[in-house]
Amino acid sequence: MSLMTIERHILTEERRMGATSGTFTNLLYDIALAAKMISSEVRRAGINNIIGATGDVNVQGEAVQKLDIYSNDLLIGILSRSERVCAIGSEENAEAVIVPEQWAGKYVVNMDPLDGSSNIGVNASIGTIFSILPKQSEGKIATGDDCLQPGRNQLAAGYVMYGSSTVMVYSTGYGVYGFTLDPSVGEFVLSHNRMRFPDRCKYYSVNEGNYAYWDKPTRQYIDYIKAVGDSPARPFGHRYIGAMVADFHRNLIDGGVFLYPTEESKPQGKLRLLVEANPMAFLAEQAGGWATSGTGRIMDIMPTDLHQRVPVMMGNQEEVARYESYMRDGAG
Ligand code: AHG
Ligand code: MN
Ligand code: MN
Repeated sequence: MSLMTIERHILTEERRMGATSGTFTNLLYDIALAAKMISSEVRRAGINNIIGATGDVNVQGEAVQKLDIYSNDLLIGILSRSERVCAIGSEENAEAVIVPEQWAGKYVVNMDPLDGSSNIGVNASIGTIFSILPKQSEGKIATGDDCLQPGRNQLAAGYVMYGSSTVMVYSTGYGVYGFTLDPSVGEFVLSHNRMRFPDRCKYYSVNEGNYAYWDKPTRQYIDYIKAVGDSPARPFGHRYIGAMVADFHRNLIDGGVFLYPTEESKPQGKLRLLVEANPMAFLAEQAGGWATSGTGRIMDIMPTDLHQRVPVMMGNQEEVARYESYMRDGAG
């Protein structure tokens, strides 16, 4: 029996990227290690009574759950002492965490340590999202601007989904690979080789309760995919769990699109460009899909703020193109 563990796989990917120092491999190991620790905490969450809000709000003004803080502190603790990272942009921190000179390395990590927090209290799927970028500034110490890079600069990106199993999906720009955690031995084992969106778009995932607040082209597009038709086979099924990681993961495996469009009260949508949209867009493109803000490629947006938001539509390439044409020209 030949098992491909994530460690072996990452080593092969590093060689493919032409990197030889081992730093990149070790950085991905660090993230996999944090993922195992978060997974173990998630599995014990109910038992430990770790569930529940701390009473604080994060920089986005949303209620912070205990697991968010645990995941954020853990990842920052591991990454900032690893000597591989110089700056960390986290959804949970107002400013980028700048690693002091003695531990500073050459990579930048942007992350959503715990995605889908509202699912914690109801024991549903949650995740972790990460994006790895090269340091841009001169010298050893990073600046906050090192986190503000367009998605096309990403060297790697991925997510961990704490679902019915824990799965880590990542790409270094040579395809997308998924690993399932075997909790009995604590190893991520290759379970999804070269992941690609199926040609057929089976599902759409969006918070449809917001329909009345969407722009007209978005409403028309959703009307279109719900109408009966042969090509493509419509209506698509609707699936929405409210954690981008889990919705994206299902669509990647079964075929589908994920949307979080603008709304009257959210002119930039809800999702964060640097910690959610860019890493997922990188994976979408690597898996043969597309990712748009409605008006252009997400990964070409030049960020100006660590916490800026962006409307998102990603997944099946044909459907993303159709949505863009609705946004440009209106229905049909
Ligand atoms: P987070 O828990 O990191 O704040 O992210 C939640 C995000 C995303 O994962 C999900 O797709 C979306 O918010 C759900 O929003 P709605 O509840 O508005 O549908
Ligand atoms: Mn999130
Ligand atoms: Mn989060």
